[in-house]
Formats: sequence, C-alpha cells, structure tokens
Amino acid sequence: MSLVLDPSAQDLLFREARTANTFTDEPVTDEQVRAIYDLVKYGPTAFNQSPLRITLVRSPEARERLVKHMAEGNQPKTSAAPLVAILSADNEFHEELPQLFPHFPQAKDAFFSERPVREGAAALNASLQAAYFIVGVRAAGLAAGPMTGLDFEGVRKEFLDDDHTPLMVVNIGRPGPDAWFPRSPRLEYDQVVTTV
Ligand SMILES: Cc1cc2nc3c(=O)[nH]c(=O)nc-3n(C[C@H](O)[C@H](O)[C@H](O)COP(=O)(O)O)c2cc1C
Repeated sequence: MSLVLDPSAQDLLFREARTANTFTDEPVTDEQVRAIYDLVKYGPTAFNQSPLRITLVRSPEARERLVKHMAEGNQPKTSAAPLVAILSADNEFHEELPQLFPHFPQAKDAFFSERPVREGAAALNASLQAAYFIVGVRAAGLAAGPMTGLDFEGVRKEFLDDDHTPLMVVNIGRPGPDAWFPRSPRLEYDQVVTTV
C-alpha cells in the first residue's frame, strides 16, 4: 500500500530480479545499453558529478584479455555472457563539474582540487551509479551478474589508465538454464533500521 510503483515493476526491479550466473545466447544491443544509460543517468550523486565510466567488452579478443584477470570461478560466465561491461570510476570527474553543476561552477576547485578527495568521491558516487546501472539492466528486462572477484590492477592496466579505478565487471543478458542459486536471506527491517 505504501509503494506507488506498479507491483509488476517492483517485482521486475527487485522481488523477482536475480543475479544471473548463466545466460542465453540472445545478444544485448548497443540500443539497449543506451536506453539503460539514458534512464539511470538521472540517479542522484553528490554535486551531480558523473564519475561512472562503462567499457563495453564486445570483441572476442577483448573478452579474452578480460577473462584472464577474472577469478577462476568467474571466468566461465565472463566468457559466455552475451555482453560484459567494466564499470570504473573516473578520478578526474571534477573537470566536468562546471557543466554538470552550472549554478556553482566553483565546486570544481573549492572541493575537488586534491586527488585523494576526488578518489574518495569518485569511488562513492560511481558505485552509486553502478547500482543504478544494475537496476537499469533489470528495467530493460535483462539480468545483471556483477562481479568483484577479479584482479583490479590487472584490469586497470589492461583496459584503463591511471585516472580510472575499476569498480566491478558486470555480465549482462537474458538468464539461461540454472541461472541462479536459491535466493539467500536478507536482513529484516528491524535489524537495519533504528530511529533516534
Ligand atoms: C558488487 C558485487 C560483487 C559481486 N561479486 C561477485 C563475484 O565476484 N562472483 C560471483 O559469483 N558473484 C558476485 N556477486 C553476486 C552476489 O553474490 C549476488 O548479487 C547476491 O548474492 C544476491 O543474489 P540475488 O540477486 O540472486 O539475490 C557480486 C554482486 C555484487 C553486487
């Protein structure tokens, strides 16, 4: 009663959405990824910064280069998923702040002139954007398989540069046979929420 989102959308995004471990061969198109990004770009971040970067690993040669940096248990699904994306944080996101936060363009220099501060902000806000992205994948009727079991420095050197910090790799597609384990429990409201 308290939620205004249509119950079928609640199920699609959360109750029935699962983390997929196997996928069908159905391709994931650039149009689908564009639609996902054009929806989730509205998710809020501090100072409206946009540090998330998405690298779509499409060619077989690039897929091979990525798989070798994945933990052994993650390698088969990274090889087989229709689409794999590397999500990273751009630690130089402050350069775009005058465009993204035009009513206070001084924010770039006033708050983000120091690299360690930027790295902290980029990690937090790009991770928020990564979460929005995962929910966006579900909104497209697809399943996501996020993974942090990987050699981060290896992925950074292979695909990124010193200004970018990898956050996770996400398999994307339609769930295949035996795509998931039984649902694991979640903490209940009273275990998580306190009121002061
Ligand atoms: C940031 C992140 C990292 C994860 N890393 C891995 C991983 O390296 N390997 C793996 O098999 N699953 C990984 N998972 C999947 C989680 O175990 C899974 O999302 C969680 O248990 C909830 O599963 P459910 O969506 O099916 O309920 C990761 C999930 C997230 C969000």
